Amino acid sequence: MKHFVSMKNLSEHEILQLIKLSDEFNQKEIKPFEKQLFAANLFFEPSTRTKMSFTVAQRKLGIEVLDFSTDNSSVKKGESIYDTARTFESIGASLLVVRHPEDNIVQQLSEQLSIPVINAGDGKGEHPTQCLLDLITIHQEFQKFKGLKVAIVGDIKHSRVARSNAYALTTLGAEVSLSSKTDWQDETMPFPYITIDEAVEHADVIMLLRIQHERHQGQTLMTDEQYLQSYGLTIEREKRMKRHAIIMHPAPVNRGVEIADSLVECERSRIFKQMTNGVTARMAVMYRLLQDGGISHANGFNQRS
Ligand code: CP
Repeated sequence: MKHFVSMKNLSEHEILQLIKLSDEFNQKEIKPFEKQLFAANLFFEPSTRTKMSFTVAQRKLGIEVLDFSTDNSSVKKGESIYDTARTFESIGASLLVVRHPEDNIVQQLSEQLSIPVINAGDGKGEHPTQCLLDLITIHQEFQKFKGLKVAIVGDIKHSRVARSNAYALTTLGAEVSLSSKTDWQDETMPFPYITIDEAVEHADVIMLLRIQHERHQGQTLMTDEQYLQSYGLTIEREKRMKRHAIIMHPAPVNRGVEIADSLVECERSRIFKQMTNGVTARMAVMYRLLQDGGISHANGFNQRS
C-alpha cells in the first residue's frame, strides 16, 4: 500500500488485514518507531474527530506531528495545496494526512508526491479512514461481514462516508441498501433504495449520515422535526429495529434531526465506540503505509501483561 485515498482500491484481504492490525493495537502495546518520523496533518476543512484521532494515533506510534493550520500558514498568501504538500515533503515529513473540500484532490496529490498520502475526507468523494473505523466497529459486533444487511441512511448524495462504506462493505460481502430523501439520492451509486421504515425492520446495521448543510446550494424547505419524522431515526422507529441491530453515525451528529436526541447514547448506539476505534484504525493505516514504504519497526509489538 503506497497511499490510502480510497476504499475502492482495496481488496477484501487488504481490508481484513487492516482490521486485524487495528485489533492487535487494541490487544498489545507497541513501542514507538525508533527512527525519527514526522507527519503533517493538512486540514483545509474543519474536523474534530479525524484530526484529533490522527494526532493521538501518531503520538502513540512515536511520530512527531507538525503543526499546521490554514489560518496562519502561507495558504493565507495564496499558496496552493500542491506547493503546501511539496513543502512538507521537502522538509522531511514521512506522511501527509489531508482533508479538503474538493472531490478527488487528495487522489491527485497522492499521484504527485513520493511520501504516503492519507485521505482524511475529500469533498463528496471518500473518507476511507472513517470507513475503516466503521468496519472495525461492525466486525467487533458481528465478527463477519458476509450476508450482513447494512442500511446507509441520510444525505447520501453529499456524503463521502456513504461512498467509502458502500464500496468496502460490498467488497466484504455485506448487502448494502440506501435510504434518502429523493433529491439526496445519488444515481451513480448502484445500490437499492428503501424507505427508513423498511430500513429499520430489515437492517442489522443502521448507518446514519449527517445532513451536509455546507454542501447544499439552497435552503432545505423542512424543519428539523419534519426531517426526523420523515427520514430520521425516531424513538418509535428504534423500537422496530431487529433485536441485535446496532446504530452507527460518523458524527458530528445533528441531534434531533437524523436521530432522536435520546438515541445517540442508547444501548444500540455504537457512535462513541466508533470514535474510540478511530485511533487504532488510523494507527493501522499509518503503520502499514510506513512499513510498506520501507520504514521498519524493529521492536514490533510488546505483549500486554
Ligand atoms: N467523522 C468525522 O469525520 O468527524 P470530523 O469532521 O469531526 O473529523
